[in-house]
Amino acid sequence: MQFIYAAILGYLCGSVPFGLLLTRAAGLGDIRAIGSGNIGATNVLRTGNRWIAAATLILDAGKAALPILIARYYWGEEAARIAAIGAFLGHCFPVWLGFKGGKGVSVMIGSLLALSWPVGLIFCAVWLIIAFSQKMSSLAALTAAATAPIFAFALADEWLAGTVALLAVVLFYQHRENIVRLMNRTEPKIGSEKKPQ
Ligand code: G3P
Repeated sequence: MQFIYAAILGYLCGSVPFGLLLTRAAGLGDIRAIGSGNIGATNVLRTGNRWIAAATLILDAGKAALPILIARYYWGEEAARIAAIGAFLGHCFPVWLGFKGGKGVSVMIGSLLALSWPVGLIFCAVWLIIAFSQKMSSLAALTAAATAPIFAFALADEWLAGTVALLAVVLFYQHRENIVRLMNRTEPKIGSEKKPQ
């Protein structure tokens, strides 16, 4: 039963669309009508408001870390991993937005830092290296997500590696349009104002 509680707790926390709520509260309009239409921090940055983008990143990471920490405290490590999956699915497929949510990058950062902080830090390092060298947020996220299960296996255990691999598969699915643009060399660089829908 505790696994069901952990999954529901994770989903409910993960489904809070901070990017949408913060941009609306700041009078920046509906983020789903801006840039890529994504509710994540990268697209919030396209509004030109760095503070709201940073707040989106932190809160989206926090909404994954919180249920993981609660689940671990009350029900143990396996429940914490189920809470992570729940939070990720809540963010990517929120019932409140007709199951059209974000791409999962900030949520993956928060999940990894809470599940295994060394794996989380490596994820951030890989993201930063690719983002600064290639200037593409999606490529950085895809690279970090693809390598994260390997680091989870090396630094933790095969069950965490499996959990992280599951999150990475969903993250890749959510980036399917970015992947097509990357292959067509039409993916915009970080900081560019608009991108093709
Ligand atoms: O954080 C999501 C990022 O990887 C891609 O976002 O808006 O450029 O499609 P976006």
